[in-house]
Amino acid sequence: MITTREFGPVTQFTMGRLFGGKPVYTMACYYVDGLLIDSGPAHVAEEIPAALAPYPVRTVVNTHHHEDHIGNNAILQQQFGTGPALAHPLAVPRISDPTSWIARLLPYQHFAWGSPPASAAAAIPDQLTVGRHRYAVIHTPGHSDDHICLLEPDEGWLFTGDLFLSERTELMRSDEDAGQILASLRRLLDYEFKTIFCGSGRVVEDGRRALATKVEFWEHLATEACRLRAQGREPEEIRQALLGEESTLHSLTGGDFGKIHLINSLLRCFYRS
Ligand SMILES: [Fe+2]
Repeated sequence: MITTREFGPVTQFTMGRLFGGKPVYTMACYYVDGLLIDSGPAHVAEEIPAALAPYPVRTVVNTHHHEDHIGNNAILQQQFGTGPALAHPLAVPRISDPTSWIARLLPYQHFAWGSPPASAAAAIPDQLTVGRHRYAVIHTPGHSDDHICLLEPDEGWLFTGDLFLSERTELMRSDEDAGQILASLRRLLDYEFKTIFCGSGRVVEDGRRALATKVEFWEHLATEACRLRAQGREPEEIRQALLGEESTLHSLTGGDFGKIHLINSLLRCFYRS
């Protein structure tokens, strides 16, 4: 399923599988004047030519190498002639040869998004101009080490991939680094921006305030987690005390998404015994 929504000159494509008639594990790509930011999961590849036909994509950027963000690079290159997808240098070999990491995909990831085919990729420059817009490329590791955000300073747009998600993010993937995410979020606050376009599909008008709220929430969580750990409480007890029970996403993803991963990662980054 691909649905399209306009936010002024920015077009959002929400992509995801239908399960029981409802979209599940959706993500969002964004199109602006020739630039497509992320290409979506391979499971929707058959819908790509029709969905993107009205949009003359010239350049594809991948915010990071995850399967739901690069899965349609190949079909865009074959049918739209978009050329190599631009990504952080660490992501380039992972995009051009996904066999090096797709064996590690979990069952829910295969179900939700599918395996991305190999596609051409090249290192993105620090500044990128596509159509009428100029973008600053900001390395923002933490969700993955190869994650980037794109800032269009004249419009105040910040495309945040999977870095932001929400003001009160309580879950993390098992392979994410909360300390790096916090550092990346703080780095973004050094820039001027207004609107956040999130890979989750959220578009946040007061993006700067939302991002600062997430930083404050995680800093408070880290302080409290360290305080409880110093009292001898175990990580699972701390998770229960600060964030409560795990959500259904914990069981649906075989434990890959969990509140416990956020607590453990904050303790690894900030707790000093
Ligand atoms: Fe991701």
